[in-house]
Amino acid sequence: MFVKSAASAGLLLALTNFASASPVLMKKDAATPAVANKILLTPAAPASGDGSNLALASQDSFIWTHDDQGIQANMTLQASKNFRLLSAPNFQDVVQSVDCSTEDITIKFGSASSLQAAQAAWKWVNQAASNTIIYVADDEACAGDKGRQPFSVESITYDTTANTALFAATKAAWRDFAEDASIRISGVPATGNTARDIGKDVSIDIGHDFSQPIYSTTIDGVNLAIACSNCKTQGTLNADITLSLSNGFEASLTTSGNLGATVEVSVTAGGSISSPLSTNIPIATVPLAGFSIADVVDIGPQLTIVADASISGFSASATATVGATASLPDGSGFTLGQGANIQPTIQATGLSLSGEVSVSAQVAPVFTLQLAATFLGEGLVGGLALQAPVLKADFAGQATSAGTAQCGANTGIAEVGVEVDVSAELDVFGGFGGATDQPNKTSLFNKSTTLWKACLVV
Ligand SMILES: *[C@@H]1O[C@H](CO)[C@@H](O)[C@H](O)[C@H]1NC(C)=O
Ligand SMILES: *[C@@H]1O[C@H](CO)[C@@H](O)[C@H](O)[C@H]1NC(C)=O
Ligand SMILES: *[C@@H]1O[C@H](CO)[C@@H](O)[C@H](O)[C@H]1NC(C)=O
Repeated sequence: MFVKSAASAGLLLALTNFASASPVLMKKDAATPAVANKILLTPAAPASGDGSNLALASQDSFIWTHDDQGIQANMTLQASKNFRLLSAPNFQDVVQSVDCSTEDITIKFGSASSLQAAQAAWKWVNQAASNTIIYVADDEACAGDKGRQPFSVESITYDTTANTALFAATKAAWRDFAEDASIRISGVPATGNTARDIGKDVSIDIGHDFSQPIYSTTIDGVNLAIACSNCKTQGTLNADITLSLSNGFEASLTTSGNLGATVEVSVTAGGSISSPLSTNIPIATVPLAGFSIADVVDIGPQLTIVADASISGFSASATATVGATASLPDGSGFTLGQGANIQPTIQATGLSLSGEVSVSAQVAPVFTLQLAATFLGEGLVGGLALQAPVLKADFAGQATSAGTAQCGANTGIAEVGVEVDVSAELDVFGGFGGATDQPNKTSLFNKSTTLWKACLVV
């Protein structure tokens, strides 16, 4: 005899508990994550600037883009005391050539007056031993294939005959001279004259189908198979992300494509289990396409799916299917770490039962999107955890005693009372930490409803 039940998802999971106790059962491991593609952003020239600005700055912005993806990253960096920033594109129009073939850097100016202007603008570096210029090169000869490289310049000597400035330079790492820094990763602003033009955001597609048989075994005379017959996540998160050394991971997100999850579980069993079981099953770990800027930032989004399941003791001979979809209305917007007013939609996707079963089962899948990042070597993390649809099904006795469905009243027809409750909870988090941390966790909604309460003819 076989029981097939969505509620049984819980069953299946519950049974994995047995796996550790019994060598007969195989433990289901989460799939080994594959390596997802990384979107590499490359340096872009500053949007504004006259190309002849020789001034040293204690704060500057650096842009990287990926045109195909329409993504832009804008890092704003405040230099530590004793450091000043000098970005090559800012004065490229007065430079004839840059020679990086030796460790020192030679800059040849186009005119004697430009050299004089540079001498005046850069005299600060020679005024004290601790004064250091950070020269940020973004041509290939100096910066290599990373495309942008800071150099620490301790002193500068000038040759007025050759019109050159010689930088005593060594390669530097951004973190070494950053007092504070933040990087905003967002859609490229639409080109246009008005400041009100809004570009699209960074899109993170969370769609993944993980329908699969989860478990199959025979334990103590009970045949049990559990399958996710229709299990998937869907939709896109549109993100505007800011990583900051002082504030951690911040992002505002909007949803599209009916963001949510469908879980339809079927459990097939024949036999009986006398005591309740509960367990936690890792179902999948799915790496999603991330973003990377050499030496600056690395974001590796990952979707993990685990399910908590429990099932009462049961004695079964029936076939049942239970499932639900929980989704967010398109355009739902929220900011990590802050509350929001979002009402999820919950719909039944399938419910059927044949035969007889007396069982109470719960399956609670948790979909966690973790955006783990390193920014200038610091670990930052943000994301969201959707616990939905949590399916709790009571077959037989419970629905009857609840009074709404008086099952068995029709003599000659076998009926089973069923009550299916679903709930959905969405938490968001963002701050400092590693891939498994959930700093500043906030609950956006926590909704529970009875999806189904009826007598089923079996
Ligand atoms: C980059 O950020 C800085 C600081 O917020 C801002 O002034 C600048 O306009 C931004 N640049 C672009 C191209 O968005
Ligand atoms: C929580 O967020 C704030 C910024 O909004 C940040 O300063 C703080 O460090 C975060 N907490 C953790 C544990 O990451
Ligand atoms: C959500 O609600 C359920 C019961 O309805 C409760 O057990 C759970 O703790 C709640 N979660 C939060 C974060 O409040």
